[in-house]
Amino acid sequence: MSTNGSVSEWWRSAVIYQVYIRSFADSDGDGLGDINGIRSRLPHLVDLGVDAIWINPWYPSPMADAGYDVSNYRDVEPRFGTLAEAKSLIDEAHALGLRVVLDIVPNHTSDHHPWFVEALAAEQDSAARGRYLFAEGQGEAGEHEPNDWRSAFGGPAWTRVMQSDGTPGQWYLHLFAPEQPDLNWNNTEVRAEFESILRFWFDRGVDGFRIDVAHSLTKQDGFPDVGQRPVVSADGEWRDHPHWDRDDVHDVYRSWRAVADSYSRPRVFVAEAWVEQPHRLARYLRPDELHTAFNFDYLRAPWLAAPLQATIDATLVQHAAVGAPPTWVLSNHDVARHPSRYARVQTSNPPFTLDGLLGHPGDFELGLKRARAAALLTLALPGSAYIYQGEELGLAEVEDLAESVLQDPTWKRSGHTLRGRDGCRVPIPWSGTQSPFGFSPPHASSPPWLPQPVSWGAVSAEVLGTEPDSMLALYRAALLIRRTHPGLGDGPLRWIDMAPGALAFERGQGFVCVVNLSAAPVVVPADTLITLASGPLTVNGDIPPDVALWVQRGSPSASAS
Ligand code: NOJ
Repeated sequence: MSTNGSVSEWWRSAVIYQVYIRSFADSDGDGLGDINGIRSRLPHLVDLGVDAIWINPWYPSPMADAGYDVSNYRDVEPRFGTLAEAKSLIDEAHALGLRVVLDIVPNHTSDHHPWFVEALAAEQDSAARGRYLFAEGQGEAGEHEPNDWRSAFGGPAWTRVMQSDGTPGQWYLHLFAPEQPDLNWNNTEVRAEFESILRFWFDRGVDGFRIDVAHSLTKQDGFPDVGQRPVVSADGEWRDHPHWDRDDVHDVYRSWRAVADSYSRPRVFVAEAWVEQPHRLARYLRPDELHTAFNFDYLRAPWLAAPLQATIDATLVQHAAVGAPPTWVLSNHDVARHPSRYARVQTSNPPFTLDGLLGHPGDFELGLKRARAAALLTLALPGSAYIYQGEELGLAEVEDLAESVLQDPTWKRSGHTLRGRDGCRVPIPWSGTQSPFGFSPPHASSPPWLPQPVSWGAVSAEVLGTEPDSMLALYRAALLIRRTHPGLGDGPLRWIDMAPGALAFERGQGFVCVVNLSAAPVVVPADTLITLASGPLTVNGDIPPDVALWVQRGSPSASAS
């Protein structure tokens, strides 16, 4: 956290490290990351200099969608550890000055959740079915899906269930896999249950929640077809959609905010909401709703000066309108790692999944160079920032996993046409020259749940930790400056005129960030001292293409903005 944010509002400036638990550190050698693995690697995060961790779902789960199918929200998956270990992790992280954010999955449960098991055994129109979204099928015998909604993983969003007499009955909604039935957020019991789950974890010291598909909870009565409707009309206006970003979802978050605010040490939320326009995102961040939201427009922006600047500006304007701090994120467990995205020719609307990248040749050295510059840009922008595990090692997407090892439900649901998200989820390398690269202990009983590239020995945390010019060294240096510079974190930004294709802005106290996205070198701003560079300067001392600098005018304490 920069010194600019007050301690009580730590989330306005925090750098939050995403721990994808399955792939972070495996303490017991079963090939799957776990809670004790996270505990053992907390020193890495302290050395890195982050303020908080966000841990992907660790609840009991049949793992149809890597833990986003929860069968019990008040416990921990045995393969990840125990509730007691979870509590120890929270306490140890706190002792080291790290906050802990969990992931809550409110749109759907697992089909193994006791509520859904009960619903399947119950009659139509029963209270048990009323917690989910069951509907009659179309056609004479109800043999067709109730409407045209599609699962995000491919195929219809409805599955038909059998009745107790063995004949086909109603259909249930699942916007994701069939193993993830959607809950009915018009049901008061569902609402009360999730408020109670929030309290369960807040009472154990958790500092906040990332809300999975926060924009999908409520659905339009009567389940009308989506049809061809664009989410945004030709004139740029938002159009009502039957299941994404509906206005009544905000009632849920007003109640959740009241729960968070009932704690004396503030608890916070970050929304995962893939909405189409910045002003729609800002609606989730009104003062009585959520604190922050992932900025996926920034993640999706091309490495091109004009669209990147436009995205930053739109973000700042829309967040300022509701008084919320922006967030900045480049990668996560659902998108192709950004060095691999930036390795491709940049278009106005670049693909962000592996399936979108395949077939487009990549210049991976260039991708890494841009990723280094993007790190300095991201960490200099106003607000809070996210780092996806392995980003500090410069890991690329693993694009060539054998089809036989793919586990993302997208692979199966797309009829084996889309590889999905496994390429960004490969267990990360800590040390050593061969797999499991310190991810699992020596003599582990199972290999990592996804195979690691043989080349990853060269980019382990241990190796990069000794190289002064490594990606890890860059992240550590940037986070150290960010932590101590009064102009960074939350606060204003002022653009500075630069050569076309370069972006430069000033934060408080003389801090300036310059990013050269043009094809020609640009001159370092006059009368400044370079404090950090993402790459070497040209022989003339200029900033080469795809390099970013942090420079200082005067001394930070002498020149206020
Ligand atoms: C978003 C999560 O990030 C993703 O991994 C998951 O598959 C879907 N939500 C469904 O829960």
